[in-house]
Amino acid sequence: MSSSGKSPLSRCSPTAVRAVIHAPVMVREVVAVLVTRADGRYVDGTVGDGGHAQAILDATQSSSQLLGLDRDPEALRAAGEALATYGERVHLVQSDFANLADVLPQLGWERVDGILLDLGLRSSALDDAQRGFSFQLDGPLDMRFDPWEGTPARELLRRINPSRLEQLLAAGTTRASPRAIARAILAWRRQERLERTSDLVACLRRGLGRRATPKLLSSVFAAVRMEVNRELAGLDRALATMPEILGTGGILCVLSYQSQEDRRIKQLRRTPFRDPRTGERFRLIPLEKRPQQALPEEVRRNRRARSARLRAFQRVPETPAS
Ligand SMILES: C[S@@+](CC[C@H](N)C(=O)[O-])C[C@H]1O[C@@H](n2cnc3c(N)ncnc32)[C@H](O)[C@@H]1O
Repeated sequence: MSSSGKSPLSRCSPTAVRAVIHAPVMVREVVAVLVTRADGRYVDGTVGDGGHAQAILDATQSSSQLLGLDRDPEALRAAGEALATYGERVHLVQSDFANLADVLPQLGWERVDGILLDLGLRSSALDDAQRGFSFQLDGPLDMRFDPWEGTPARELLRRINPSRLEQLLAAGTTRASPRAIARAILAWRRQERLERTSDLVACLRRGLGRRATPKLLSSVFAAVRMEVNRELAGLDRALATMPEILGTGGILCVLSYQSQEDRRIKQLRRTPFRDPRTGERFRLIPLEKRPQQALPEEVRRNRRARSARLRAFQRVPETPAS
């Protein structure tokens, strides 16, 4: 089942366990803040290859349950294999995490004890040339998390208006001039094909010369991917609705990798919430003042961990003093 009603709600069948491909970031730290009840109900909104989900299941009793969501059907297949041994404790659904409230009734769940979001892309999708996420691999310029939904990057870049293009590049992780990058893309698309990842790389190299460093290419690809998948808009919707799904004392835990995302997550502590079902006023209290970061030894093992920021919040009733 997805929000668009495409894929069925599936329980893991007890088939062989496969090694997890994506090295999950800050697993120990995530489990330490997220798991408050050994028999709880947990949501992994970005289940990916199932690494964090596996750690949550291992840290809880056999009566705990986990709902794993992902927009990417390939991720759900990988998670299904990795989590097969947990059988009926695991439910996997193809859905945007922003639509969690629509998925829960299918399980008969109203509230959950913890929600995890590990934003962005799986390493295994980045390494698949056919998905078009990597500037280092030649493939179709696609970048959709769900290959059956939305507009591929090649079409988006062909049609997007110049000011929006500049805006999305400015909102991305790149520090190079968004105007110069936008000009390079606009000049290229007037004369050349923009079909493959190698076309976008050639376009940036032609327009920016030596400024087209691997760091710049990587950040432009990330900015385009975020626009293709409307990631910031989805995060905004999720952060507005997920707190209502937590039970009192429940935890929302988010791993983010870029400042646009972290800024939004940080704002949660200032937001007053009101439960639409009970009318209760409540807040999300940050468990730590500053975001946690990966230890140097993890960063040495896993480069993806270097930019990770972990923030966790607990739902507490509003008191006159809070
Ligand atoms: C960094 S990976 C998560 C890896 C996972 N924690 C693990 O241990 O393997 C992020 C995953 O979230 C998925 N994703 C990104 N945005 C999403 C969204 N709005 N809703 C659901 N899944 C999303 C991606 O397809 C990707 O598989």
